[in-house]
This record gives sequence, structure tokens and C-alpha cells, in this order.
Amino acid sequence: MSSQKVQNIMQQMTIEEKIGQLIQLSADFFQDGQAVITGPMKSSNLTLDTVYTVGSVLGISGAKKVRQIQHDYLKNSRLKVPLLFMADVVHGYQTIFPIPLALGASFNPETMKIASQVAAQESAAGGVHVTFAPMVDLVRDPRWGRVMESTGEDPYLNSVMADASVRGFQGTDLDGQHVAACVKHFAAYGAPEAGREYNTVDISEWRFKEQYLPAYQAAVDAQALLVMTSFNTLFGVPATANQHLMRDILRNELKFDGVLISDWDAIAELINHSVAGDLETAADLALKAGVDIDMMAFAYSKYLKKAASLDQTTADLIDESVTRILELKDKLGLFDDPYRGITEEREQSEIKTSANLTAAQTAAEESIVLLKNQRQTLPLAADTQAALIGPVAETGDLLGSWSWQGKASETESIQSALGAEMPNLKVATGVAYRSLNQKELAAAVTVARQQDVIIVALGLPSSESGEATSLTNIKLPDEQLMLLRKLAQLNKPIISLIISGRPMDLSEVDALSDAVVFAWFPGSRGAKAISNILLGKVNPSGKLPMTFPRSVGQVPIYYNHYRTGRPITNTPEDDENKYQSKYTDQKNSPLYPFGFGLSYAEIKVKDVEIVADQITTDGKLQVNVTLVNQSSRQGKTVIEAYVHQHVSETVRPVKSLVDFDKVTITANSSQKFRISIPCERFAAVHTNLEKYVDAGQYTLMVGLDSENVVAVPFVIK
Ligand code: BGC
Repeated sequence: MSSQKVQNIMQQMTIEEKIGQLIQLSADFFQDGQAVITGPMKSSNLTLDTVYTVGSVLGISGAKKVRQIQHDYLKNSRLKVPLLFMADVVHGYQTIFPIPLALGASFNPETMKIASQVAAQESAAGGVHVTFAPMVDLVRDPRWGRVMESTGEDPYLNSVMADASVRGFQGTDLDGQHVAACVKHFAAYGAPEAGREYNTVDISEWRFKEQYLPAYQAAVDAQALLVMTSFNTLFGVPATANQHLMRDILRNELKFDGVLISDWDAIAELINHSVAGDLETAADLALKAGVDIDMMAFAYSKYLKKAASLDQTTADLIDESVTRILELKDKLGLFDDPYRGITEEREQSEIKTSANLTAAQTAAEESIVLLKNQRQTLPLAADTQAALIGPVAETGDLLGSWSWQGKASETESIQSALGAEMPNLKVATGVAYRSLNQKELAAAVTVARQQDVIIVALGLPSSESGEATSLTNIKLPDEQLMLLRKLAQLNKPIISLIISGRPMDLSEVDALSDAVVFAWFPGSRGAKAISNILLGKVNPSGKLPMTFPRSVGQVPIYYNHYRTGRPITNTPEDDENKYQSKYTDQKNSPLYPFGFGLSYAEIKVKDVEIVADQITTDGKLQVNVTLVNQSSRQGKTVIEAYVHQHVSETVRPVKSLVDFDKVTITANSSQKFRISIPCERFAAVHTNLEKYVDAGQYTLMVGLDSENVVAVPFVIK
């Protein structure tokens, strides 16, 4: 039915109207509810008439504004094909959830699903139709600022989270409470050389398929309706012009049949990448690669008409793209109601509700990671005489990058949340992120001296994570380390609380602190979540979705690395053998491994038992895991199951996550959990780039982090 509707529109469209659908404009082209062309937009060469043919706009929301613009657009457009509103609704719209990397740390797909659902519901009420999320790029380099947008370094965790996010955004039927998801950035944007933003990516197709592709695959399998191209080069060709990547892999192998949109200006950047001599060629390359929408490069608007008149293949490609875009509009119900049911009243009542804020708080509580807790420094009793010091104490800057509609100025600070619960809390104010004068330092020390415990709230501002924030130094700023050193000299228990969008080198922080809590950017209700964790109202259960290095020199460091010909053995022999894969000035091991995170409860793996140690390739590995909690607190943890294949055609990671389960275990108890792992999760990509499961010997490793595991052999027949 829908196709007939779309075909009817297609038949009436002029070539200009068709090309219009392939153009995406920024918000500046619409002001006071109307289309405009002002000075800065002149270089686009668009006329106002063309603006009334464009298919989509990005970065506009608000029920009133969207209604006005849609109304003006429909009034002025000949065929009245509704305008599509897209935006970056990444970890919340107005209710901001923890950043995606933190949602990864929840190891709880339900948390991710709820975060995406709430983001969809609020942004849909605000007139958004498509969100540029989830970002599912696998990331292993904390120098790259965009690690905060991903769920981390593991293909399986990322796949589970990608699936949950798409389902949360789109719901089962993409009704008016949901938005279409645009998976990004295809592909492998998370592996820029040296962690430098927009830099070259060069990995083999084998590695790409093993580790990077699965999360995109999961998002496409979850029926994500759009995909965005990445800025980077892959296999020698920029993604936006890469026919092998987009046609062979995305369309044919992954069976993606939705809309492919370029990233911002990425078609024009093909010239800088030097695969196109001019914008006309760039437009041609992108269209041939199957890019349906040109986001802000004006390549399609300038050159496709001429190209289509000269060449039937181009005209056919344009038709294909227009069809896909119109089908998307139809799926969103825009032909039936171009406003998708938005009203200012609905917006008022559905955005930032207390239920949504509570969900954001729960997500933050699920994602905060306790990295160290010596002598049970934490949790704190509410009447503790504590000092709170540091740049993060007084700020509402807890939302993190990509929280476009979030308001830091309205976000509760840690000082306020903790102060409400701790009558004896004293705060030393005025400490900045990257400066520290003697007066502030002396004042901080004075406050700390009067108190029994020192909470040092350290970290980075939102502006130092996200796009275009690559760093070569991933320690805390010198001034903050100076403050911490000074406070440590007082010989009182120190709790370091870190706000950051990326793994950091916390070696010195760890050495100087009795307890370390890593809170990421925890979102709108982050301060309350932090307070609940510090006071033990909530028992921490987050686990690291990325490895934390001992120093930046270990980067990229990730748990699921391949074996080498000369591995270290972790025995005293390593000291005598120079010719091993290692550093001479640093250990190979990280400061905190992937999957690591403590609880206030003392939970351990007591027993791992494989039900049948021989399985077939279509079977499941059934495992009984017994956990003990030797404390008087109930706690949550994550059972993590890893696998290693002993011998195979291609090298295998030392271990790969194949399953995880976030579980609750009651105080002073021993509890048995059953995990069931489908054999297909043990598949490897072979030299012919085919992925399948080999018969042979494997080891299953089960633990509460990736390093401390109980190993059990099994065989696949
Ligand atoms: C980013 C995308 C984003 C787009 C639109 C680009 O700079 O790379 O992730 O969706 O801008 O805001």
C-alpha cells in the first residue's frame, strides 16, 4: 500500500523536486517559522523555491516551531510532501540520561532501552522525527573525544546495546511516541589513527568484520531505518564514496534497505580526502556509493540535475534514493499527519516528567563505577564530617556533550545533592578545572583540615568530550592533581569522584585515594545518583566498558587483543626474557580492566559448571554459575562470560565477551545462575571473510571482570 502511495508521488515529481528530497539543510534556513536565505547561506546557491522542495532539516525542535515550519513548508510546496525533522537526540532530549559510554557501563540493555525510549518520547513530542543515534562505533582509544558517544570496546556489548537502543527509539511500530533511528557512523569511525579527530582509519577487512561490523549489524537487524556515513577513510576510500562498504557490505551483506545519509559536509570533504577533484565528482561518487541524503555539502543540489540529464544510471539512482526517503516519511506517518500529533500542550506534559527524571537517575545509578574502596571508605554515613572540594562540586555541567536540549544551568550540582543529605558537609568553593591559585588552594586545605573525610570532585567539563576534543594527555589537568596531592598530605581518607567522558590515566589518582568513583557524565539527575552511591542508598554496579590504561603510552589498550607470537607469561620468567611483546618501562596490564567495577557487597564467583562440555554448532552452551555474597548488603553485579578458541585458521582474541547478565544477589547468600550461550556467538571470521563456528577446543572464562576469571574447557563438535 505504502509503495503505491510513494509511486504515485514519484510519478508527479519533477527532477528538481526529486533532488530536493535528497537535500538536508541546517536549522538556519528556517527562521521565525519560515524558510529564509540569509547572507551566510548564499554560498549554498539555493533559491527559496528550492528550499520548499528539500526533504529534510536538522537541528530544529519544539512543537510550536516545528508546526509553524511544517505549515509554511506545506503551503509553499507544490506536492506537499512533508518536511522531515532530524536531530541529534543522543542520550536524552530534555531529560538527559548518562552519556552512552556510561550506559555501556550499566551492562544493562534494559537501561539503554529505557534511555532511548524516553529520548524518543520527549523528542517526538518536540517534533523530531529522526534521531542521529545510536552511535555504535567500537572505540579503543580514549584520546578520541567521541568515545563518550559509544558503548565501548567490545563487539558483543556494543551489539547488545545497539539493539536495545534501536528498539527503544523506534518501538515496535514507530508510533507518535517514537522516532526513527539513524545508526552511525558507518563505518569504523572509532578507530582514527593516534586518536586524532577526523584522522585516517586503516584496518583490514578481516578485523573490521570481526570486531567493528557486529554492532552495526545488530542495529540494522533491529530494523534501524537510517544509517549515516562516517567521515573517515576505510580500506583506502573515504566511507562516503566507498561503494564496497556501502553497496557490498551495508546493502548486500547487512541487508540494509533504509536511508543512507552523509555526515555533515562529508560529500564535499571527498575533495580534501583527494578522491574527488571537484564537488561535481564528489556528488557523483557519493550517489554511486548509495548515499541518499546530502547533509549540508550542497553537492547534490548543485550537480545532480545536470548529471541526471546526461546519464540514465544517475537518474535511476536518484529515483532509488527518493523512493527510500518517501518510504521513510510514510513509515513515520507523515503523509497522514505531517505534524505527527504534536501540540504545545502535549509537549508541556510529556517532557521532563518526574517519571522520566527518575528513569534518568536510575540509569546513572546503574552506570557509576566504583574503582577502588580501601578499608571500606565508602559508603559514608550521612552524618560524616566530610569536606567537598574540586571543580566539579558546584557545577551543573554533568550532562556531557550531545545533550543539545539539556540545561546545565538547571541541573542540580553534587554540592547541592550531597548537602541535602549530609548536614555536616563543608564545601570549599571556587576551584576551577584548569587553574588553581594559592588562595583557593589554602582555602581548600583549611576546609579539609577541619573534616574527617575528603571528597575530591575532579574531572573535565562537557566541552572536553565529544566531537573534536581529541587529547594527547588523558590525565586530569595538572592543577587538579596538584590539589589532590596537597589534600593527600593531610592523611585523611580521600574519596576521588571523577566526572569524565572518557577513560583517563588515573594512576596517580588511584595511588593518592582510598576510594575512587567514576561517574562519567551522569545526566540530569546525576548529582542525586552520585549522592545515593556515596551514601550507600544505592550499591554501585557499573562495570567498565573500556579498559583504563596505566598511561597514555599503552593506548590503544583493550582486553580482547589478539595473541602474539611472543606473549608474556605473567610468571617470573618474564623478567628474564627480553624478547617478548611488552614494554620495558611499563606493565602490559591496564590500571583497571574491561568489565571491572566494585560493589559494597563482597560478591565472588564460587563455582562455574558447564552442563555438557560437548556441544554442536547449532546448540547452546549451558553454564551454572554460583555466586556468593559474603556481606550483609544486597548487591548487583555482572556475570561476564568470555571465550577463547584454542586453534583456528586466523588468530583469536585472548578472550571475547560472549554473554553477560546483570544479577542481584541478596546479603549473606550463595546463589546459582544459569547462563545459556548460543554457539553462534563463538563464530570467527576466516581468511575468506566468512563468519562461522569451527569445531574444536575452547575455553570458557567466567568472572565479574575480564581479568579474574574461572576457566573451564569445552568442545564444539
Ligand atoms: C557528527 C554527527 C552528527 C552530525 C549532525 C556531525 O558533525 O559527526 O555525528 O550527527 O554532525 O549534527
